Amino acid sequence: MKLPTRVKLVDVGPRDGLQNEKQPVSAEVKIGLVHRLQDAGLKEIEVTSFVSPKWVPQMADAASVMHGIVRKPGVLYSVLTPNMKGFEAAIAAPREEWPDEIVVFGAASEAFSQKNINCSIAESIERFAPVVAAALEKGIHVRGAMSCTVGCPYEGEIAPAKVGYLAQLMKGIGVQRVDVADTIGVGTPRKVQGAMEATLAHFDVDAISGHFHDTYGQALVNTLAALELGVWNFQSSSAGLGGCPYAKGATGNVATEDVVYMLHGMGIETGIDLDKLIDAGVYISEALGREPNSRASKAIRTKRAG
Ligand code: HMG
Ligand code: MG
Repeated sequence: MKLPTRVKLVDVGPRDGLQNEKQPVSAEVKIGLVHRLQDAGLKEIEVTSFVSPKWVPQMADAASVMHGIVRKPGVLYSVLTPNMKGFEAAIAAPREEWPDEIVVFGAASEAFSQKNINCSIAESIERFAPVVAAALEKGIHVRGAMSCTVGCPYEGEIAPAKVGYLAQLMKGIGVQRVDVADTIGVGTPRKVQGAMEATLAHFDVDAISGHFHDTYGQALVNTLAALELGVWNFQSSSAGLGGCPYAKGATGNVATEDVVYMLHGMGIETGIDLDKLIDAGVYISEALGREPNSRASKAIRTKRAG
């Protein structure tokens, strides 16, 4: 199949990237990261989560971050809202501070659903349904994240049928697009394609994104495998930040810098300025006191230093 000629990337670093950080990161730094990402040309940014601060303390400042960002026209800002309480908190602010899109997040694995959001898959769908309906009614877009679509830290390998089942349930409650997530980064290309194909039975290719953690170093090749199926939306974190607090051993998302380097090298357009993106990754890594977790960033910075 002919590969897509352009790709849209969602940088999930401010949310997925930072949610797992033990050391406090100020709202000001998170806002600074969002600003640098939009200046680098990102058209979608996952900013924060309206979740329980007892479960994910790092996201406790969600409202302050949404309040502090200065939005750039044409950029879509999304937030995670697992229940009505989260949704209500996300729209408690004046309309101009509302997210453009909310994300409900479920799992293809029962055990992960329990660990991550404290309920079964069926119960999660019951919780999401009113959130989805309320968001759509207010003109807010709705995305559904599907965790553990190839492997689960508790159940092991996940069959594509389980992914198809979750995708069907998401579609049934009005979710407009879905993320096929390899939460713990265990997937390999054919397995990822199996999860994608199961999702394609329920969602149009334009409504599917790949969300690959890079634990086993497979995220780039899995991105290519998804591109082969025509998928052209992907999620990644600047500086390779990230991990899920409820997925032991899972490392960050694939670095946005690495994905952009690969895509540009293949002549696939992203609209992203790689140099500015590298600087955004350096900014957040310096705030965390470490090096960006991106090979492309390292190589390009070494070359810059001459
Ligand atoms: P629960 O304990 O079942 O909920 O949590 P509850 O309704 O029984 O409420 C318990 C307490 O939480 C109450 O407070 C509520 O007020 C509070 P208390 O009375 O004990 O003081 N509460 C909330 N507070 C703020 N915002 C809310 C909220 N809801 C309840 N929205 C819940 C259910 C889902 C909230 C909880 O399990 C939770 O917050 N989990 C966090 C899950 C999370 O953020 N995980 C990481 C993101 S998902 C991810 O990373 C995967 C992804 O990247 C894709 C991939 O890679 O796989 C998307
Ligand atoms: Mg994730």
